[in-house]
Amino acid sequence: MANKRFTKRPVALVTGAGQGIGRGIALELARQGFDIAGLDIRWDPRDGRKGLFEVKARVGRLGRRFLPVRCDIADIAGHDGAVEAVLAEFGRIDVLVNNAGVAPEKRRDILETTPASFDRVMGVNARGTFFLTQNVARRMAARTAAEDAVQPSLIFITSISAVTSSTARAEYCLSKAALSMAAALFAHALAPYGISVFEVRPGIIATDMTAPAKARYDRLIAGGLVPQGRWGLPEDVGRAVAALARGDFGFSTGAVLEVSGGMNIRRL
Ligand code: NAI
Repeated sequence: MANKRFTKRPVALVTGAGQGIGRGIALELARQGFDIAGLDIRWDPRDGRKGLFEVKARVGRLGRRFLPVRCDIADIAGHDGAVEAVLAEFGRIDVLVNNAGVAPEKRRDILETTPASFDRVMGVNARGTFFLTQNVARRMAARTAAEDAVQPSLIFITSISAVTSSTARAEYCLSKAALSMAAALFAHALAPYGISVFEVRPGIIATDMTAPAKARYDRLIAGGLVPQGRWGLPEDVGRAVAALARGDFGFSTGAVLEVSGGMNIRRL
């Protein structure tokens, strides 16, 4: 790297890094030696207890650099600025983790799904993530192998909802199914460039997203829905992502990894 200011360590761009699963991923990647660009729509530099600036402090204590990036991934016009801010700080992006996503603001039966909620959820989870990936992938594809700190990769955080019907959240399931296909498409297209693409499907993970349904999930888990018998934690997903990002799965592009405590097992 010509500019000495730029890090030689691998750099991961994690979307939705301010809390929940994205925070868990950012911290685990930092433990594995990555510098982190954490992107989020929520931005409050005065809040040291929650959000990007809390994560920045934690990553700093792990001895790694953290660049907070403010961006709404649904606003495609803002993608260039966000990606260029990361490149200006670090000079490289080795791994993109597409984690940012939203649930419907209100659960409604599929017969009542509204166009506004459909557009909002698809706009963030599918459309925004697709075009941010395209933006980063173009730049990764233009890199030379000599610039690589680790094998470049794209990691999509979809959901078991990509393949599990949940009729009170049709737009969410559709957005995650679309994202699952996006992962397969990018895996196919980018294999000749030496860029690996993986899909990670979390199950029921304890975050703000699932907090409103906590009592219901508590009951379902107690009733045996999750073979491993507990809620997933952001660090469960973080560790799985870190294993993929490290490059240990270098001949497995397009692979799908469930982090759901065994919900993928068909049971009788
Ligand atoms: P969360 O709601 O706790 O955190 C999501 C983060 O993404 C927040 O920091 C939020 O500000 C950010 N974000 C939301 N919209 C954004 C946008 N337009 N632009 C930039 N940042 C945005 O959610 P959680 O649970 O951590 O979920 C993370 C990802 O994991 C999501 O894609 C979600 O669909 C997925 N997931 C979550 C599961 C769970 O049980 N919590 C299960 C399966 C998948």
